[in-house]
Amino acid sequence: MGKSKRRKLEEKRPKHSKPAYGSKLKKPVKPTRPSKPASKPQQTKACAAPTIPFDPSDRILLVGEGDFSFAYSLLTHHACTSLLATAFDSEAALLQKYPQARAHVDHLLADGQTVLYGVDATKLAAKEIRRGERWDRIVFNFPHVGGKSTDVNRQVRYNQELLVSFFRAVLPLLNPTNGSIIVTLFDGSPYSLWNIRDLARHVGLKVGRSFRFQSEAYPEYKHARTLGNIEGGGGWKGETRSARTYCFEVSETVAAGQGTGPNSDGVGQRKRKKGDESDSD
Ligand SMILES: C[S@@+](CC[C@H](N)C(=O)[O-])C[C@H]1O[C@@H](n2cnc3c(N)ncnc32)[C@H](O)[C@@H]1O
Repeated sequence: MGKSKRRKLEEKRPKHSKPAYGSKLKKPVKPTRPSKPASKPQQTKACAAPTIPFDPSDRILLVGEGDFSFAYSLLTHHACTSLLATAFDSEAALLQKYPQARAHVDHLLADGQTVLYGVDATKLAAKEIRRGERWDRIVFNFPHVGGKSTDVNRQVRYNQELLVSFFRAVLPLLNPTNGSIIVTLFDGSPYSLWNIRDLARHVGLKVGRSFRFQSEAYPEYKHARTLGNIEGGGGWKGETRSARTYCFEVSETVAAGQGTGPNSDGVGQRKRKKGDESDSD
């Protein structure tokens, strides 16, 4: 990217964004009713500055991108200029599902970023992923296998298997000094049944921190359904649903070479209870 373009992007990037990992957007998200007293907890929550776990200098690997709007937002609104953005689908399948991806991909490529298709987050074998320095951030937003089963317990298990295999695949690719794996999931059931913290613990990761995902912090990002665009929006918009971002770090025992604990992968440990919602991605 040219110097003047980078400068422009950095000017665009909120001044609040400190170079250190873990910067917080200080500009408050606009409260819906600013005149009301700030004493109500819900109001305080709405005004909380979003946490942005990315820094412009981070080497960021994105897996399971949908229409590449998240990668696009990181580049254009957060000046992250070391991106390798990947999708599971082939290029043809992806463009059929999400025609809007074309513009995002073209912009990323024109800027010198790398985009790959057909990348399985559980394998990550591509040479572009493995060569060079290790990754500071490896991101999987709203991982989901798609509608594999109508049985909620089975569906939970498939998604757990995806996450465990993803965690295992990315461990050797992480920067050992400050690397983190960033996963965002919707709140509530059935996602809570995935027990993401336990899954991570069983492969030698720990939650460094977690925070509310505020999609407003990523302008132009639109949650992509695994099946593709749904005419009329399909009744709900993922980016407006309550969600949480987990930042996983390698736990001390693994970092010290003491193995990853018990053989169990933690998959399928919690059964569906009455009242759990059906799955949707
Ligand atoms: C609900 S969509 C979320 C898409 C995108 N991350 C977003 O936030 O808009 C779930 C994504 O997980 C991807 N996915 C499922 N299995 C995968 C795998 N084994 N490797 C990589 N991506 C996978 C799907 O292709 C789909 O794009």
